[in-house]
Amino acid sequence: MVTDESTAQETYAPDPQFAEQANGTAQMYAAAEADPEEFWAQQARDRITWSTDFDQTLDWSNAPFAKWFVGGELNVAHNCVDRHVEAGNGDRVAIHFEGDQGDTRTITYADLQKEVSKTANALASLGVAKGDRVAIYMPMIPETIFTMLACARLGAPHSVIFGGFAADALRTRIIDADAKVVVTTDGQWRRGKPAPLKATVDAALAPKDGEPDTPVETVLVVNRTGTDVEWVEGRDQWWSDVVDSQSEEHTAEPMDSEHPLFILYTSGTTGKPKGIFHTSGGYLTQCAYTNAVVHDVHPDTDVYWCTADVGWVTGHSYMVYGPLANGATQVVYEGTPDTPHQGRWWEIVQKYGVTILYTAPTAIRTFMKWGDDIPAKYDLSSIRVLGSVGEPINPEAWRWYREHIGGGTAPIVDTWWQTETGAIMISPLPGVTELEPGSAQKPIPGISAEILDDEGQPLTDPEAVGYLVLTKPWPAMLRGIWGDEERYKETYWSRFGDKYYFAGDGAKYDDKGNIWLLGRVDDVMNVSGHRLSTAEIESALVSHPKVAEAAVVGAADETTGQAVCAFVILREDAKKEADEKGEGDDLVQELRNHVGQEIGPIAKPRQVMIVPELPKTRSGKIMRRLLKDVAENREVGDVTTLADDSVMNLIKDGMTADS
Ligand code: WTA
Repeated sequence: MVTDESTAQETYAPDPQFAEQANGTAQMYAAAEADPEEFWAQQARDRITWSTDFDQTLDWSNAPFAKWFVGGELNVAHNCVDRHVEAGNGDRVAIHFEGDQGDTRTITYADLQKEVSKTANALASLGVAKGDRVAIYMPMIPETIFTMLACARLGAPHSVIFGGFAADALRTRIIDADAKVVVTTDGQWRRGKPAPLKATVDAALAPKDGEPDTPVETVLVVNRTGTDVEWVEGRDQWWSDVVDSQSEEHTAEPMDSEHPLFILYTSGTTGKPKGIFHTSGGYLTQCAYTNAVVHDVHPDTDVYWCTADVGWVTGHSYMVYGPLANGATQVVYEGTPDTPHQGRWWEIVQKYGVTILYTAPTAIRTFMKWGDDIPAKYDLSSIRVLGSVGEPINPEAWRWYREHIGGGTAPIVDTWWQTETGAIMISPLPGVTELEPGSAQKPIPGISAEILDDEGQPLTDPEAVGYLVLTKPWPAMLRGIWGDEERYKETYWSRFGDKYYFAGDGAKYDDKGNIWLLGRVDDVMNVSGHRLSTAEIESALVSHPKVAEAAVVGAADETTGQAVCAFVILREDAKKEADEKGEGDDLVQELRNHVGQEIGPIAKPRQVMIVPELPKTRSGKIMRRLLKDVAENREVGDVTTLADDSVMNLIKDGMTADS
């Protein structure tokens, strides 16, 4: 996508007026370079309130397992809520909630303190104690944020599971984290209509033959849509019955800086999702710092809006922890961009006077497609900073974003980071950096990155493409994969030896030394900024009784970045039946729905191609590169390493269905 656009790019110098008020400064680069640990220690002390100061900034003696701000104690929820009230900012709006149905709720920091305290008391009354895990399977409503912060208050790590995941995916994640409580809603609003949600939890927790029961003792249910629900006596409890009557006071206990804050599952190269886990002090420090210097949040004047779903890391770091730690005022929107009309986002920007907007390239490209006239109908003049995250933003979308949303002047921060990094790593600083569309540019102050070639040597050829690595530990880094130390070392710290964190992204420099991210180099796809694993979708397809074998690739897609394309070999009897009945289309639909049921609607393939064979090397490895050529309608590349080089012709001739 971004591939060869990295030469001869125009640049945009920072506006001097913006620079004057910017939180980020050029001096930060120099200070961080001179003494990175001292730089981070200062960020931690300036931005976070510690109940016990730390005595060591970084302990890397057990690398790659890091400890940051060792000996320090803090409570993350106290930092995000109570201290703002104590500082006299209780009346400041924390959240302007905008519901799908047009219902709204204004939550000040004082309100937030009461709600979070009540929720913490409620969870404690259900037996949740420090160290217990709580699964959160909820839409974008205030109660979701209350629950996350209540967990942080109690020191009970949360595991938020995106509301688009299906029962099996939910079950696996609940079991892996050994969650005691699940918090959910009866249903969720989707494009103006209620859709059931608790029913998925019921299915996820239902007893299964040959499997032990799930560890869940309680399901706490918010009534959001008035959807009918089944009820398991003794297990299920209404939020209103348990939370509403609780005391509005709750004392937040200090936690060790390295106390686990949350687990968040993400796709890796194998089918089993990885529980990425983050801890307290370092994570919160880097979230607060980046939200201040990259988004340039000024809590007393800005209205910030991050459009990410709370089920992904962006929602964790830049809707919950970063902005709330900074005491910012933000918008939280429950619905989709086109409900009830395609101008809904711009209507929200106008209504609340949003000054900082953080979203994903896939959304920007969708708005481009819908037309310039839609945002033009609204007053977007409040916007002063724009952000992008999730995948490379192509220069064309960048220019459109600046022109049509940013009034031709707002700086755009293209922020590269990952679930694993916890917070922004590579990005321009608005007001400091000369912007170059399409490039995430440079590591932010305090972060060090490099691009290595196949042999692990730093890239020297300016035309070459290599692998992005991070060369120093950073405060918000993952502390591991939940329950799997080996997989952590192997996935991130072995490709180029144990000194380099391997990000899994291809990258190159341009002639200005700016970094261009070129997409994943492993079997992870990026669909609308969501990470999906080819292996996970393949195993979902193979679990269908009619499927013998499956291969999945991510093919370029104009709007979603990549789209899931599946190649499927049917079992003999299914093949016969399909031939006889000529029911290819129905079967394709059936397989797409099956993936939807197994993993969730986001994983449904755009295309399912039924093929007689798959291209394999002599050692039996599927050559996805060739399938990608087919999926992207290209001339098929080099087939010399195929065990049988006639296979590609068979595939092209034999494709019986397309959806
Ligand atoms: C991709 C999302 C290019 C990248 C925060 C990374 C990006 C993966 C950018 C992480 C960007 C994210 N430019 N690529 N600005 N931001 N990516 O874990 O491939 O959902 O490895 O975290 O998204 O996705 P994740």
